Amino acid sequence: MTTELSPADKAKFVAAKRAVEFVESGMRVGLGTGSTAAWMVRLLGQRVREEGLKIVGVATSSQTAALAGREGIEVVSLDEARWLDLTIDGADEFDPDLNLIKGGGGALLREKIVATASDQMIVITDASKEVAHLGAFPLPVEVIPFGWQTSKALIEEMLVSLDVMGREVSLRMNGEAPFVTDEGNRILDLRLGRIGNPHQMAMVLNQVPGVVENGLFMDICDRVIVGHGDGRVETRDIHSGEVETRLFDFEEPDNLFADLGR
Ligand code: 5RP
Repeated sequence: MTTELSPADKAKFVAAKRAVEFVESGMRVGLGTGSTAAWMVRLLGQRVREEGLKIVGVATSSQTAALAGREGIEVVSLDEARWLDLTIDGADEFDPDLNLIKGGGGALLREKIVATASDQMIVITDASKEVAHLGAFPLPVEVIPFGWQTSKALIEEMLVSLDVMGREVSLRMNGEAPFVTDEGNRILDLRLGRIGNPHQMAMVLNQVPGVVENGLFMDICDRVIVGHGDGRVETRDIHSGEVETRLFDFEEPDNLFADLGR
C-alpha cells in the first residue's frame, strides 16, 4: 500500500527525484542536510541498491552520514574525496540569482565547505523557499563557544551600519540548552527581515572575531530544482538561463514510498 505524503513532502520528494537523475556512476557526491536532502539520500540509496550506481558520498552532517550509511551509500570524508563532482542540498531561501540562505538545520559550515568543493551545486526545494530578496528567514551564523556573547555584540554593532530591516540576534536553543553544531559551535540567528546587500553582508560577517561562517551562499548554486505538491518540477539553470518543467507521476510501485518513509 502506498504511504500518503503531504503536499509539502510530495514537493520535496519530486525535487529530490529530479536531482538524483543528475548523478552518474563514478561521481563523488556531496550529500546535503535537512528534510529535502533526506529524500535525495534515500532516492540515491535506492539507485545504489537497485541499479548498482557506483558513487561515494561526502555527508554535510552526522545525521546525513548516518542516513547515507543505512541506505548503503559509501560515505568518505571530504579529505579522502578531495574534490566533488556534484553537491545536492536543500535551502531555506533562494533569490532570482540563486543566492541562498542555508543553515536552518545548523549544518551551514560543512554545507558551505562541501558545496564550495564541488564542480556543481544543485539546490532542491519547494516553492515556499523562493523570495525576491533574501532575509525573511533568520540568517544563521556559526560562532565558536568562547566569547560568543562578545561575537554577538560585535555583530549587533556591525548591523547598525548595514542595509537591513531588522537587527535582532538570538542564540539558537535546543530546548533549555544552546544548540551545538557538529563542529561543537553555536548558532546565532539574525532576524534581518530583508538584506539589502547580501554579498557585503556575507563578507563582513566573516570578519567578526569568533564567527566561523555564515549561512549566505553567494554565487555557489548552479541549479535550483523546485518541486510542487502536484508532481510538477521546475529546474532552473543559472548559467544557461534555461527552465525545464517536468511532471512526475505519483503512481509509483507499491514499495517505493513505504521504503522511503522509514
Ligand atoms: C540545513 C540546511 C537545510 O538545507 C535547510 O534548512 C532546508 O531544510 P529542509 O529541506 O528541511 O527545509 O541548510 O543546515
